[in-house]
Amino acid sequence: MDLERWVGQAVAANREWAAEFGPFDPHPSLEVSDERFGAAFAEFTGRLADNYPFFHPRYAGQMLRPPHPAAVVGYLTAMLINPNNHALDGGPATARMEKEVIARLAQMFGLDTHLGHLTTSGTIANLEALYVARELHPGRGVAFAAEAHYTHSRMCGVLGVVGTAVEADAAGRLDISALDALLATGRIGTVVATAGTTGLGAVDPVHEILAVARRHGVRVHVDAAYGGFFTLLAGQGDRAGLDPAPWRAISQCDSVAVDPHKHGLQPYGCGAVLFRDPAVARFYLHDSPYTYFTSTDLHLGEISLECSRAGAAAAALWLTFRLLPPTPDGLGQVLAAGRRAALAWSALIEKSDVLKLYQQPELDIVSYFPVTEPATLSRIDQASERILQAGMTGPDPVFLSTLRADAGAFLARHGSVRDDAAGARILRSVLMKPEAESYLPHLHERLEQLARG
Ligand SMILES: Cc1ncc(COP(=O)(O)O)c(C=O)c1O
Repeated sequence: MDLERWVGQAVAANREWAAEFGPFDPHPSLEVSDERFGAAFAEFTGRLADNYPFFHPRYAGQMLRPPHPAAVVGYLTAMLINPNNHALDGGPATARMEKEVIARLAQMFGLDTHLGHLTTSGTIANLEALYVARELHPGRGVAFAAEAHYTHSRMCGVLGVVGTAVEADAAGRLDISALDALLATGRIGTVVATAGTTGLGAVDPVHEILAVARRHGVRVHVDAAYGGFFTLLAGQGDRAGLDPAPWRAISQCDSVAVDPHKHGLQPYGCGAVLFRDPAVARFYLHDSPYTYFTSTDLHLGEISLECSRAGAAAAALWLTFRLLPPTPDGLGQVLAAGRRAALAWSALIEKSDVLKLYQQPELDIVSYFPVTEPATLSRIDQASERILQAGMTGPDPVFLSTLRADAGAFLARHGSVRDDAAGARILRSVLMKPEAESYLPHLHERLEQLARG
């Protein structure tokens, strides 16, 4: 699609709608001439040049990519009105769009019943899930894997809940026997399973966690902020297909967080939380004398902790889902390409004499490190840092990210490396753009050059 054309259409559509309300005098205090704006804009775009090229496949670092053009146009068009999805009084059209996209996400996870809403981030989505966990099991703690996102221990602190980290197995997944022993103490009310860890993209065995938790009368929240859309690849027969067991189990869990601003092609400001039991709405009960007055239908602010939220975020997701729905044939194809790229790159790294695979990718995150002589943690750490910096600053740049692996985790995967330090940085690439697949030969060649120094 032609972004310039549709951005123009967004402005035209807004103008046409606004004209229905009749003319009024613009206020001089807001007047800005094109000349003044032009100067400020030139400075502004100059400042923005100080950025990494997230759009390009040579950026193979963190979970960053621009939104789909459809999301850009959807966001911009709604933003020109600037609805607030807190209440139907603030944005009736976009609040209805939000309810529809939430229903689609619930359907994607196979939830028969749901209560949910968008949030500004995965952090807030997870906070809400932990808040409900605390209300349902006051006095009992929350367990999460040692490899879970740091937000869980942080938000336990905010909520005054005891958070306990459960050790990870050699693949970076929550260790089931350690969890079983912890839950037997009766101290835990909710366990967090991560469907796609931030560091390595490891998928906790949600189905096994659910079975253990239910045996102990414990709830399960799934943090699928990063990995959630990969459920579209569950049980798919091709190379990108995933073991369906953990993904199917999400439908039986108590809550799930997923971030459309990661793998849902959205701009930032778009997370989501879904609860299986709509009755948890009672924990959100509050009065708001200045909102909730135009309709007796559910106002989204009545079931969320945040007040103001961008209606434009719901609009962008709604428009994107019209074109790339959360189905295996829609958005699933975008994720499948990134996953195939991760598998293909891992195969190339395994054959390399200068790079080594840290572990097999489960989703689209590739973890690897340079071969060093001697093979010690400190040398690997230095070489990873050198490649990261040289990649960004040299000719034909590549942009990577690093991940700190502690000595125990490193040696569990690569026993022949000498642990002369507490850990080492390794290299990490999230291949979340489908274009990574065709760019891969070049990326790999450049990485090998950098590794050779
Ligand atoms: C698994 C997981 N949970 C939570 C978060 C936090 O989400 P956000 O950055 O949207 O607040 C992330 C971010 O990368 C994540 O990967």
